[in-house]
Amino acid sequence: MTFTEPHKECDKCPRLRAFLLDLRRSYPNYFNAPVPSFGVPNPKLLIIGLAPGMHGANQTGRPFTGDWAGDLLYSALATHGFSEGQYDARMDDGLILKDALITNAVRCLPPQNKPNASEVNTCRPFLTDQIASLKSLQAILTLGKISHDSTVRALGLRLKDYPFGHHKTYAIHNGITLYSSYHCSRYNTNTKRLTEAMFFEVFKDIRDNLS
Ligand code: URA
Repeated sequence: MTFTEPHKECDKCPRLRAFLLDLRRSYPNYFNAPVPSFGVPNPKLLIIGLAPGMHGANQTGRPFTGDWAGDLLYSALATHGFSEGQYDARMDDGLILKDALITNAVRCLPPQNKPNASEVNTCRPFLTDQIASLKSLQAILTLGKISHDSTVRALGLRLKDYPFGHHKTYAIHNGITLYSSYHCSRYNTNTKRLTEAMFFEVFKDIRDNLS
């Protein structure tokens, strides 16, 4: 049996659990729980972000939905044929993903958007199970170093053999290619560490290599 999503009341990370319980009082209309993956059940492409954003995924309950990073990610998905319908930053905007599934290395909102190492480790079994359960997978795209490193570990590989870098690609087992990208965060795009063109190039590469 695999467990690809944490329980809604998951309390494996005491700091994150306490933070969400506090937020249920201060933001009672927010999702404030582990954010489930979004997309098709048998994807060719799995996208792995860092963790839900406070007023994005943690509000709406859908990864990357409602924040800056999501505007860029969902635009890249639409441009490269991975979605159908209009992204409107709402859970019920009717957007459908095609061939793709989006998840996060850490499923709960961390304070200051920074999960600590033990939280990344504690959440990793969900990622490990999820990757193992996806039988049509051809590509994994990790967004940012924390997501990349946790994914490499989830795959049972050694970090020193698979260093993080923007638009690095690695052939891994079972015919899957691992792609990494700088995270599409507001900070990275404002500082031009990541431009739309750089991000879209990664998606084009993935699209060109999917069968
Ligand atoms: N929203 C997410 O769901 N994940 C991220 O990594 C950033 C924003």
